[in-house]
Amino acid sequence: MCGIIGYVGKRSATPILIDGLRKLEYRGYDSSGIGVIANTSGNIVVRKTKGKIKDLVNLIDKQKLPQGQTGLSHTRWATHGAPNRANAHPHFDDSKKILIAHNGIIENYESLKENLKRQGHKFVSDTDTEVIAQLIGHFYKGDLFDAVKRAIRQLRGAFALGVICKDHPGTLIAARIGSPLIIGIGKDENYIASDVPAILNLTRKVIYLKDGEMAVLKDDKVDVFTFLGKKVAAKVRTVTFNVDAVKKGGFPHFMIKEIHEQPDVIEGMLKLRLKGSKVVLKEIGLKASELKGINHIFVVACGTAYHAGLAGKYFIEKLTRIPVSIDAASEFRYRDPVVGKKTLIIAVSQSGETADTLAAIREAKRKGAKVVSICNAVGSSLTRESDGVLYTHAGPEIGVASTKAYIAQIAMLFLLGLRLYDFKKALPKKEVSRIIREFKKIPGRHKEILAGKDKIAKVAKKNSHFGCFLFLGRNINYPSAMEGALKLKEISYIPAEGYPAGEMKHGPIALIDEYRAVVCVSPQSDIYEKMISNMQEIRARKGKIIAIATQGDAVIKKHANHVIYVPPTHNLLTPLLVALPLQLIAYYIAVQLGCDVDQPRNLAKSVTVE
Ligand code: G6P
Repeated sequence: MCGIIGYVGKRSATPILIDGLRKLEYRGYDSSGIGVIANTSGNIVVRKTKGKIKDLVNLIDKQKLPQGQTGLSHTRWATHGAPNRANAHPHFDDSKKILIAHNGIIENYESLKENLKRQGHKFVSDTDTEVIAQLIGHFYKGDLFDAVKRAIRQLRGAFALGVICKDHPGTLIAARIGSPLIIGIGKDENYIASDVPAILNLTRKVIYLKDGEMAVLKDDKVDVFTFLGKKVAAKVRTVTFNVDAVKKGGFPHFMIKEIHEQPDVIEGMLKLRLKGSKVVLKEIGLKASELKGINHIFVVACGTAYHAGLAGKYFIEKLTRIPVSIDAASEFRYRDPVVGKKTLIIAVSQSGETADTLAAIREAKRKGAKVVSICNAVGSSLTRESDGVLYTHAGPEIGVASTKAYIAQIAMLFLLGLRLYDFKKALPKKEVSRIIREFKKIPGRHKEILAGKDKIAKVAKKNSHFGCFLFLGRNINYPSAMEGALKLKEISYIPAEGYPAGEMKHGPIALIDEYRAVVCVSPQSDIYEKMISNMQEIRARKGKIIAIATQGDAVIKKHANHVIYVPPTHNLLTPLLVALPLQLIAYYIAVQLGCDVDQPRNLAKSVTVE
């Protein structure tokens, strides 16, 4: 949800900012802009445009930016005001001395704007961001740091900010509360960015700015302060993932590259977490006695992470008989959930910055619950606020539609289930040993599925003309059906519903005729026969069926128009396998329809507002 990159150093800022923006484009891509302090005139010169970074590059090709060594840029996902040039960031104050880029939402912007207007300030955009620029300008009397400090004390909401001022070339100010912002430490230059990939080719040394902190960056130093101006000793960390992780590596899209990374993600996770048949989750942050005492689990998450959580519920309950409730984080935070000291909250999030998930854990902690987060983004807000953190280490996920992060979340939830089994043994030991044995085979099974991707592509293309899809699954693959539908609608814009197959006759069956396609997730399990009955009901109404089934299942061919096979595994592990064909179906349909797979319309990778 918006990407910021800022530069201060000795080199020309523009190419560095544009390159960084490209790597942040997954965060928002409806408009973008850049501003630099010109070496010659000393003025701040800005170029902004509606559309993607390539449109900004085209604009700069036509209207060259002057040389400058201090600058800010931004790629936007609109919240306040349409995605047009006027609302694109960065924004000036009235005097055009101060320029800011912002990620987040200012909740009290209307009252601040009215106030500033009464005092004679003229606004040129519909954004909440412009209020911040005007407010800083209002307080500015020559001391930029002081003006930013005074302005941010008046803001309510979430923000990550970058600020430059024409009177102070060589200075870049940053501040954050609620929205992510990192500082990159370079040689004779420093940077701010919304996420690590933006600066990965420049430096590995980063400071994760904390909520309520601001920083002053010069080319040779970075000082971090609280919002009250008290200096703090910030920890410089070294980022370990490499530059290749944020490149397409020969694939046409990030999404398909990330789909192919899934075997390695699981392999890496199991290597780290499974020692023989023992699950090692040291960073769980809870003592064995606390884990033993858990009598209720809540999973809170949004989007794809919610579906991973739902699969986790089926798994954990089966192994431990601990009741697991799952809430969309946006519901949990407002419904006064019944949570106590023996409740464990599992927050699942790729980015660790999702506003609703953060609000949900704050609510749970207020009620005395312990929070363990399952997260991909190291050092994110969620990880800092949790009692324990289980990192999925899936590497940066750039495609807006989540794939490898989803698989990693499910796998981590299953590992957590296996760890809780140590305290509450609800399945025979022999069966759990079989689950662990089969778990270790998952990366190999993934590779088998990926080797057959051309067949999946063919099936997808043949069915890409359908105007509506239904995805059905039962039991632990009901979440798989939900996720399959979400993937398809996210990237192809085809209306798609995910349903528990047993619910089909209570409504969705009305949709079915020869113009609809139904994806039935039906691997071998004890409810397989029930899925077959549902497929017969669909066929009777002329619906077209794509079945996802277990290798060797010849019977299913009689009931489905197309069958995509996955290798056999333990029933409880099937979500880890069926996810791949579901992702591939969505991917190939979207490609066939000419959609922008990595940057679907209206979506953003990380939703840092409510
Ligand atoms: C956005 C993304 C989804 C993601 C959801 C939750 O909607 O487009 O792909 O599943 O946010 O994000 P999180 O980072 O919390 O997993």
